[in-house]
Amino acid sequence: MLDLSDILEARKRVQETAKRTPLEHSYTYSAMTGAEVYLKLENFQRTGAFKIRGATNRIATLSPDQKEAGVVTASAGNHAQGVALAATRSGVDAKIVMPEYAPIAKVKATESYGAEVVLAGADYAEAAERAHEIEREEGRTYVHAFDDEMVMAGQGTIGLEIIEDCPEVDTVVVPIGGGGLISGIATAIKAQSPETRVIGVQAEGASSAAKSLEKGKRVSLDGVDTIADGIATRSIGERTFEHIQEHVDEVVTVSDPEIAVTIVYLLERSKTLVEGAGAVALAAVLFEAFEYDDGETIVPALCGGNIDLNTLTTVVVRGLVETGRYLKIRTVLKDRPGSLEELLEIFTDHRANIYAIYHDRTSREVEMSDTEVEIELEMRGPDHVDAFLEALREAGYEVDVLV
Ligand SMILES: Cc1ncc(COP(=O)(O)O)c(C=O)c1O
Repeated sequence: MLDLSDILEARKRVQETAKRTPLEHSYTYSAMTGAEVYLKLENFQRTGAFKIRGATNRIATLSPDQKEAGVVTASAGNHAQGVALAATRSGVDAKIVMPEYAPIAKVKATESYGAEVVLAGADYAEAAERAHEIEREEGRTYVHAFDDEMVMAGQGTIGLEIIEDCPEVDTVVVPIGGGGLISGIATAIKAQSPETRVIGVQAEGASSAAKSLEKGKRVSLDGVDTIADGIATRSIGERTFEHIQEHVDEVVTVSDPEIAVTIVYLLERSKTLVEGAGAVALAAVLFEAFEYDDGETIVPALCGGNIDLNTLTTVVVRGLVETGRYLKIRTVLKDRPGSLEELLEIFTDHRANIYAIYHDRTSREVEMSDTEVEIELEMRGPDHVDAFLEALREAGYEVDVLV
């Protein structure tokens, strides 16, 4: 098992390459929750996520022969970029295998950090198979994304920073994918402050750690389904499971809508961009996935900011829907001049602002004398939505709420 000295040693190797990221008190989330919330802003890390810490420590502890032969790994996400930059900074050659469908932005980012990208396989499992072949064929060292003590020790340097910057911390909240991040952080925290709670958070659609703890043995899921792609992992590691059992107080889950709302809060109120996995720890605090007291000092770790713009668009719209700020409705009007204007008067009275309106007289769903309208609206919150829908129905319109 990992201990504090491994993490202190890791820090010496990691500190020149990885940034020490800020810990900031948040008035907004403290006021919302009654706790004292400090955000660990690891989304500002180089490469946009914490992975550079573990990869740097792993590569620094290779023998001279291993460094000469180079490293290989498989990843379509943050680990790819972390290994790429860590290897380049250490003068070690890196090959990163990505599935053939990998978004071009991720391929380019990984190449820009100096690694060679090999596109192989339809999914992560097939890419990993190819990476292990390269490991055997070329004598390269495989850098595991989480189930490796040197990787875990590198990630644990975040725990040292949290305790130094906030010695009074009562609870640290950390996302779990394969479990490397929380294994390192929990080891660092419990060695220095045994009273501090460490809570792990997973997405509801990828909750292998929560299920494994329940069963007392590692559980591998048949499939995963979440917008938090960084933690969409079917199973935690053997080593990480031992560390989680030993050091983690509780593992909880959050839903995709909760994650989306948290991303929107962070953007709007904190001017901070995180990916789904980077939002789950704060989501667990805001949606009370675990119990805490008033005034308790809580540090959620925002571990990554690499979200692609298409996903971000979907998430923002979903977050606005969940918070009653976006509404899409359908109704039916008489197909005669003035009927749309009558409807829109209610919109004006209620200050419901139109994003888009589709007026369809060809729809087979309605009588030939009618026309169907679909309207997307900007709203001010759930109360505004309720009052507006009530006014429409009182005026005799049949309204379907689409989202
Ligand atoms: C942004 C982000 N947060 C959290 C995690 C979870 O880390 P681990 O797999 O070590 O549990 C990942 C893993 O890729 C990640 O990319």
